[in-house]
Amino acid sequence: AKYNIVLLPGDGIGPEVVKEAVKVLQVIGDKYTISFNFTEALVGGAAIEETGDPLPKETLELCRTHKYILFGAVGGPKWEDLPRDKRPERAILDLRKKLELYANLRPAYLFPSLAHSSPLKEEILKNGIDILVVRELTGDIYFGEPRGREALEYGYKAIDTAVYTSREIERIARKAFEIAKKRRKKVTSVDKANVLETSRLWREVVTEVSKKYPQIELNHQYVDNCSMQLIKNPRQFDVILTGNMFGDILSDEASMLIGSIGLLPSASLGERDIAIYEPIHGSAPDIAGQKKANPIAAILSAGMMLKYSFDMPEAEEQIKKAVISTLEEGYRTPDILREGDLPVDTETMGSLIAEKIKTY
Ligand code: NAI
Ligand code: MG
Repeated sequence: AKYNIVLLPGDGIGPEVVKEAVKVLQVIGDKYTISFNFTEALVGGAAIEETGDPLPKETLELCRTHKYILFGAVGGPKWEDLPRDKRPERAILDLRKKLELYANLRPAYLFPSLAHSSPLKEEILKNGIDILVVRELTGDIYFGEPRGREALEYGYKAIDTAVYTSREIERIARKAFEIAKKRRKKVTSVDKANVLETSRLWREVVTEVSKKYPQIELNHQYVDNCSMQLIKNPRQFDVILTGNMFGDILSDEASMLIGSIGLLPSASLGERDIAIYEPIHGSAPDIAGQKKANPIAAILSAGMMLKYSFDMPEAEEQIKKAVISTLEEGYRTPDILREGDLPVDTETMGSLIAEKIKTY
């Protein structure tokens, strides 16, 4: 088999971590005799410098034709004073919207040897955490109209509007149930149906979709309760299905149960087979160019690509296994380093994981 992958390294530590993810993909390619054909393109601040545009047309076109995208991170102090629609961060928002990637998957998996970096109590952690937040990404109060500001006699009125159509809810719900089939078969749908009309529709449509998945257990939770349950008893969750704003907040909360932001991957999927895989962290200008970045989030994002785009779940498992055992041996980038650990830089961490996969 042969797959075309677009690399969008971007800014700051983006290129540093994407390089390590590519290293791992190359090892997987050799093992499974798949040829991955990588094409790099400009995005974010790097693209602004070259072309004046954070998402040049050529980059968007390449993403449309090559379909499978590994993204690093965009942004940095150099571009902070630009207006909002000219900034590097615009690129990732536009990519998701223009490629109609409405499903954002953020796994929060606790590496046993890093349990100390979680704020949770030991008795909760000893059995592990493995949650997947499925967040709707292109609707809700982040995009609804009308929005804006009106001058009042005494100041301003600001308006945002939450909007969901049954079609939007149905497609994200289907995605969550399909994914739950391959996991522990439990979906918790999170809304605020006691207050919001969009949430009432959400609950109705999710319940309707669930009838086609009798093997999956569905329960509903209000978002305020869910945010508490994540801390109190995170092991009750398998797949959390939720809207754009609640998902934004809950996925950040879930990610912090795991420890470092440098460990967490994500996938953004749509109806067609175009997809973006990216670490959840940003460009980390404070550590860029110092070989300190943890490449694990980017490497696990490449793993998600293998699973969701190339239907190679066993290859993804090998990557996870290699990460787990490298961490168990005590190798740590500075973000997760404690006394007695073996400090390594970005490239060494990537190489250790890649070498390990060769031995499986
Ligand atoms: P950030 O995620 O870049 O960094 C937050 C903190 O976590 C920093 O102390 C950083 O050193 C650390 N960190 C992040 N990734 C790490 C890794 N792989 N290994 C070790 N430590 C890591 O978020 P911040 O500082 O708020 O934003 C920096 C820039 O990145 C901004 O311009 C922001 O807009 C942009 N950004 C871009 C995103 C994207 O491209 N998807 C997402 C989030 C922020
Ligand atoms: Mg967020």
